[in-house]
Amino acid sequence: MNHTPNDPRRARSRVTVEGPERAPHRSMYRAMGLSDKDFQQPFVGVANLATEVTPCNFHLDQVTREVKAGIREAGGTPIEFPTITVSDAIAMGHQGMKGSLISREIIADSIEIVAFAEGFDALAAVGGCDKNLPGILMAAARLNIPTVALYGGTMMPGRFQGRDVSVEDVFEAVGAHAAGRMSAEDLDALERAACPGPGTCGGLFTANTMGILVETLGMAKLGTSAIPAVHPDRQSAARSIGAQVMNTLAAQILPRDVLTLNAFENAIRVAAALGGSTNSVLHLMAIAGEAEVPLTLEDFDRISRETPHIGNLKPGGEYLMADLHRVGGVPLILHRLLKAGLLHEDALTITGRTIGEEIRAYPLPEIQEGERVVFPVEKPIHQDGALVILKGNLASEGAVLKITDPNGSVSFTGTARVFDGEEAAFEAISQDRIKSGDVVVIRYEGPQGGPGMREMLSVTAAIIGQGHVSDVAMVTDGRFSGATRGPMVGHVAPEAWVGGAIALVEDGDTITIDSQNRQISIHLSDEALQERQRRWTRPEPRYTKGALAKYQRLFASASRGARTTIWDQ
Ligand code: FES
Repeated sequence: MNHTPNDPRRARSRVTVEGPERAPHRSMYRAMGLSDKDFQQPFVGVANLATEVTPCNFHLDQVTREVKAGIREAGGTPIEFPTITVSDAIAMGHQGMKGSLISREIIADSIEIVAFAEGFDALAAVGGCDKNLPGILMAAARLNIPTVALYGGTMMPGRFQGRDVSVEDVFEAVGAHAAGRMSAEDLDALERAACPGPGTCGGLFTANTMGILVETLGMAKLGTSAIPAVHPDRQSAARSIGAQVMNTLAAQILPRDVLTLNAFENAIRVAAALGGSTNSVLHLMAIAGEAEVPLTLEDFDRISRETPHIGNLKPGGEYLMADLHRVGGVPLILHRLLKAGLLHEDALTITGRTIGEEIRAYPLPEIQEGERVVFPVEKPIHQDGALVILKGNLASEGAVLKITDPNGSVSFTGTARVFDGEEAAFEAISQDRIKSGDVVVIRYEGPQGGPGMREMLSVTAAIIGQGHVSDVAMVTDGRFSGATRGPMVGHVAPEAWVGGAIALVEDGDTITIDSQNRQISIHLSDEALQERQRRWTRPEPRYTKGALAKYQRLFASASRGARTTIWDQ
């Protein structure tokens, strides 16, 4: 291994530690125990998103320790640094959720700025909760230095009344309890049982969806994402990341070599095939934006139309992420799609091999139950993928619907019940004021209007908990949690804050959601909408200083991934 001053792997860190003028810098590093040998090796920044604010990231110190040990074994010098994390579940249902999407931007900014300022040669990043992996990949795309991501893994299922449960069940139980369909004792027992230890929320919600997609994109080692947080294999997977990042650095495989349009199309394919979180649309758009890949919402719809739905995972299906690991993990999904010719198999990965080569080389376990967790492509759950992009006079730039209905489609015409903000909607639902046939419209919750595009899991779970599984719809310029199910349309763009048509809806209007025709419309003439537009005025901003006011000004439309921009793109 080359440790000479001319080692090309050290092109960035050399600037910070070589020569007499860098004696102060080395002195600072020596204060932390670094040796002469360390200075002659590549510096690998290790972003550790460990925190006590959420079980999703609670165990990441341990995982990161293994990653660092692996880097040392492979001849690198790991330098660990933290970023922030917000717990989506704990932020859910109150004003705090406005911090969630902002946290994605802060994670991306933190990693970018630390790696930039310290001159790291490569990056390894360990993340868990929803916004972690998107933030990590956005930073990787901006920095374009060799990067390997590692997902921290899912929580194990809890057991309640003889069935596997996750935190989604607790959110829905709140609605059932409010409707008198669940006792306080049962709610308490479920609360205590649902989350049995560290790891991310257990279904195919946003964090697990992004864990699957980071492998699909080729930015993580195949087979590492589905391993549960507490499984012993997680530590050995973490150790292997150390060697991987050193190999990726040696081969100079850069994030933008991996994050190509083909890689994004593969990721969309997998999200559609599984019925992954609608947040994946937002995050893939944002990562593509940072990688300067020309991805559009139309790409999601086109690919979803051509993709059979094969994932039988909660919230739409029956199984949890830990079950997926048992039957083969992400490689099982990719293997099914590859065999059916539904992947761009020549997309490069961080190993230097293509995704097709990686999938073929991966030893899959022979487990019959695998056919129940991920259906064969030739016998899918539905012929179409589960992610649908809707357009119409209510969302001219687009809106996102995830099909969780067993029929595989949504056709809903109902009466608008309009709420400015999540709290007002939640109160109406809790007071049983929402009836069958209603379309709950929640607005001023978009990227700018919220700000921060809150997720509406408390609202959607309360609707479901009251027994309105498919007879009440919801339309919002906010987001949904990956745990949301039912006829729920989010990411409506343009949002109410910028005067989008959702701002013009009134109680009693008729709204149609039609997944077959990709339509979302309000039954009003263009003239009537224009007349309402003339009368519309923007409300006063809720925040006038601090981070929320700052990000309100920086967020782009949901149709462009709601990432922060300071230029018009
Ligand atoms: Fe972190 Fe659900 S709160 S994954």
